[in-house]
Amino acid sequence: TSNVLIQNMAFKPGQVMKIKGTVAEETCSFAFNLGKDSQEYSLHFNPRFNEHGDSQTIVCNSMSDGVWGEEHRDSEFPFELGKETKVYITYQNDAFEIKLTNDHVVKFPNRYGNQTLNHLAVDGGFKMISFKVL
Ligand code: GAL
Repeated sequence: TSNVLIQNMAFKPGQVMKIKGTVAEETCSFAFNLGKDSQEYSLHFNPRFNEHGDSQTIVCNSMSDGVWGEEHRDSEFPFELGKETKVYITYQNDAFEIKLTNDHVVKFPNRYGNQTLNHLAVDGGFKMISFKVL
């Protein structure tokens, strides 16, 4: 189950998505799953406070038919329990660029090409305040 599930977006290369929300007071992690549908995530963006042996680490990956790809890790971690945060996700032909509140940009390859992404699921300890495609 997801906190927020959007299934009818038309998010295309060249566009930027802004997601603002508050991190839960207590959580191991949260995730944004962005993809063609619930079976294919072009971008799984998963800040882990303390989960799967990671602490304060962002894990990104892609997933198709339940099979995860190669993980990408970033040790920048400007997220705090109970605090508001904001990320900007830019969808490019070759990569996703995820800009964090400290202006650090996490870059993750676009493995499934130039297609419309319909699906955004927000999971775990994140309460969405606003969502916008710029
Ligand atoms: C797994 C985890 C998934 C996802 C994946 C990313 O270990 O169970 O939720 O984060 O890693 O590679």
